[in-house]
Amino acid sequence: MGDIKVPFVDLVKQHETVKKDLIKAFQEAIDTGGFILGKPVETFEESFSQFIQSKYAVGVGNGTDALMLSLTALNIKKGDEVITTPFTFFATTEVILNRNATPVFVDIDPVTFNIDTSKLEEKISKRTKVILPVHLYGQVANMEKINEIAKKYNLYVIEDAAQAVGALRNNKKAGSFGDFAGFSFYPTKNLSALGDGGIITTSNEQYYEKLLRLRKHGASKKYYHEDIGFNSRLDAIQASFLNIKIKFIEKWNKERREIASIYTAELKNYVETPIIEENCIHIFHQYTIRTPKRDKLMKFLKERNIATQIHYPYPLHLQPALAFLDYHEGDLPESERASKEVLSLPVFPEITDTQLEYVIDNIKKFFI
Ligand SMILES: Cc1ncc(COP(=O)(O)O)c(C=O)c1O
Repeated sequence: MGDIKVPFVDLVKQHETVKKDLIKAFQEAIDTGGFILGKPVETFEESFSQFIQSKYAVGVGNGTDALMLSLTALNIKKGDEVITTPFTFFATTEVILNRNATPVFVDIDPVTFNIDTSKLEEKISKRTKVILPVHLYGQVANMEKINEIAKKYNLYVIEDAAQAVGALRNNKKAGSFGDFAGFSFYPTKNLSALGDGGIITTSNEQYYEKLLRLRKHGASKKYYHEDIGFNSRLDAIQASFLNIKIKFIEKWNKERREIASIYTAELKNYVETPIIEENCIHIFHQYTIRTPKRDKLMKFLKERNIATQIHYPYPLHLQPALAFLDYHEGDLPESERASKEVLSLPVFPEITDTQLEYVIDNIKKFFI
C-alpha cells in the first residue's frame, strides 16, 4: 500500500491506446508537408461541429484565443461591459481586458460553482454587451436563464466551454447555446491536443466567416486584409491528433462519470460532493469536493502521494492584476468561500481501481 502513487492526471497512460495512430499521423504530416490549416483541420472542424450540434466550428491556437476571437468578432471594445464569473481560470477575464473592455463579476451559485443567474440581471447596465458564463468543472451553466436574460436586454452570449466538451443540459451540448463558444484542447482537458489547441463553435454564418478571417490576420484572401486579426490557427498536426482522439471522447467522459459516481457514493458523508443538476450530464473535467478542512486534507493526501489541485485558490476579483477594478474582499462572498474550500481529486479515465480505492480510503482516514 505504501508504494501507491496517484498523479492528478496521467497523459502517458492516456496516449497508450492511441499511440500507434498518433505516430502514424505525425509521419503523414512529415510526408505530405501540410502543417497549417488544410484537410486535417477541416475534417476536425466538421466532426467537432457535428458532435456539438453547432453549424460551424473554427480551429484556433488555444482556448484563450477562442474567447478572444469571439469578443473581437463582436467588436467588443473600451467602454463595453462583459458580465462573467470570478470563479474560473484567469483567461476568461483576461480576454475581456485584452479587448480593453470591463469585466463585471457576478457571484457563483455555491452548489454548482457556476454563475448565479438570479444575481445576473442586477449587474446589467447600458454598457453591457455580452454575458460570458463558464461551464465550470464540466457542468453546463444555466443557459436557459442566461439566454432568456440576453434576449430581454439584447446581449450576446459567449460560452466558455473550455472544460465542457460533451457536457449536456436538457439534451443540448455545451457550445450549442450561445452566439459563440470557446473550447480548449490544452493537454489536461477531456479532449486534448499534444500541445495547445482550441476551437470556436457558432451557428451564425456571418460570424463564422469573420472568425475564419480573424484567425489569419483578418485576411479574406491572400494579402488582402478586411479585419485586424490574429495569427491563431489550429496546427494541422494537432488537428490530426484530435481527429484520432475525438473518437474516444464519449468513452473517456463516461469513464470520468463512473469514477465520479464512485467518489460520490463513498465520500458524501465526509465532504460536500458535486451536485449534478437536473437534466444535466456533467463530464467531470474536474471532480471537486468542498470542505472547510481543505488545506489540511490536501497536505494529508500529498504526504500519502496523492496529488490534488485547487480550482481556484484566488477568485479573479481579488487578483493583483485586477486591483484597478476596485473589488474588495467580501464583494463576492460565495466565490471567496469556494476558493478556500474546494479541492479537485484525480479523475482521469485511466486511474486504476487500486488508486481510486487508495484516494477514498485516505480521505476517510483523514476524517475519522
Ligand atoms: C475555464 C477556462 N477558460 C479558458 C481556458 C483557456 O484555455 P487555453 O489554456 O487553451 O488557452 C481554460 C483552460 O486552460 C479554462 O479552464
